[in-house]
Amino acid sequence: MAIMKIEMVSFRNHSRMHIEFSKGLNVIWGENGSGKTGVLEAIHSLSFGKSFRTNRHKELLKTDDDFLKIKGTFNKNNEKEIITLHQNRKGERRFHINKAPILGLKELMGKNLVVVLSPEEQVVTKGPPANRRQFFDKIFSVISKAYIETLVQYHRILKQRNAVLINIRENRSNKSELDAWDSSIAQEAVSLWGKREKLLLEYNEELKKVAKDFSEEEPIAIDYTSAIYSQEKTIETLNKNKQRDILTGITNFGPHRDDFKISWNTKDVKKYGSQGEHKISLVLMKLAELFYIAKSTKQTPTLLLDDLFAKLDSGRSRKVVDLIKRFEKQSGNEIQTIITTTDLIDLEKSGIEINDEETPTFHLKRTCNA
Ligand SMILES: Nc1ncnc2c1ncn2[C@@H]1O[C@H](COP(=O)(O)OP(=O)(O)O)[C@@H](O)[C@H]1O
Ligand SMILES: [Mg+2]
Repeated sequence: MAIMKIEMVSFRNHSRMHIEFSKGLNVIWGENGSGKTGVLEAIHSLSFGKSFRTNRHKELLKTDDDFLKIKGTFNKNNEKEIITLHQNRKGERRFHINKAPILGLKELMGKNLVVVLSPEEQVVTKGPPANRRQFFDKIFSVISKAYIETLVQYHRILKQRNAVLINIRENRSNKSELDAWDSSIAQEAVSLWGKREKLLLEYNEELKKVAKDFSEEEPIAIDYTSAIYSQEKTIETLNKNKQRDILTGITNFGPHRDDFKISWNTKDVKKYGSQGEHKISLVLMKLAELFYIAKSTKQTPTLLLDDLFAKLDSGRSRKVVDLIKRFEKQSGNEIQTIITTTDLIDLEKSGIEINDEETPTFHLKRTCNA
């Protein structure tokens, strides 16, 4: 699959913007603040129903405008597919696939695969556990329909259980009402833990390969740090936490609190990692994401490389490019790649050849879109 065209109205700093892409390499360049990351964000929004930069949809609407629109034209096995997003000032959104409204975001998942490597996603290694859960939830949801179904179901029950907790706190419900919820949430929790554990094992195999291909000395490892309980033990723990849950009005235990530990040379990157270790960990994790998704879905995702070359030293960015080229050669599939950069010279230093006739380059200027 490939994205052929993106059209945007009132998205971030872009009043109106329209870009056509080739199936191979594409370059978007321009000074900081010209809206390069915004273009990638728009593509990501059509693929996953949300930006990779923020969970607050309202931020995406151009200041002072009333609604935004993004339209993407994708090529799926030589058939055209059009996905649109409309959003108003209140943040209400509607997605359509070939003009038909979608019923849930699940319908978008896995349709148009993209992998983003952006410095804006450094929160995956630096931020709170939610960022790492989001990273893996996204990958596992693309790879496994059963995973996304369990995830959605778990969160649906969690929301209902939390509503019951508040009702009990406000004396509108009886404590015994929790029992039924505990039993059903425990069932989904155990199922989610199991799936996370299994899929992380598969992902780690890919990560190991990527790290080895990248260089012999990239000692990264990821561990699932959650306690994986049986259904009985989960119910027991929920029971033990009951008073606290009622008091806080939220469920304090379960897979929605999971975390993953990223280690470099056996040391926890979040706690001890240098800037360089944070950056390279994210790069390796993202390349592993790309290859794992490609292998599992038999589709090659579009790769969005945001400002990579400004943030990595040229030796390492050259290795990223080499690894991508090697994958293309081995699989016989071209990876559609959209690169953003402030400076075209950086690309050449990283071993990316820009062929004037084959590589579309788009120049964004700060003033023309503001
Ligand atoms: N909702 C919005 N309305 C108007 N401008 C915005 C909005 N969100 C972000 N911007 C502006 O868009 C500009 C471009 O941002 P960005 O896409 O990060 O550029 P780049 O990646 O090229 O550095 C920034 O100057 C930012 O202030
Ligand atoms: Mg940017």
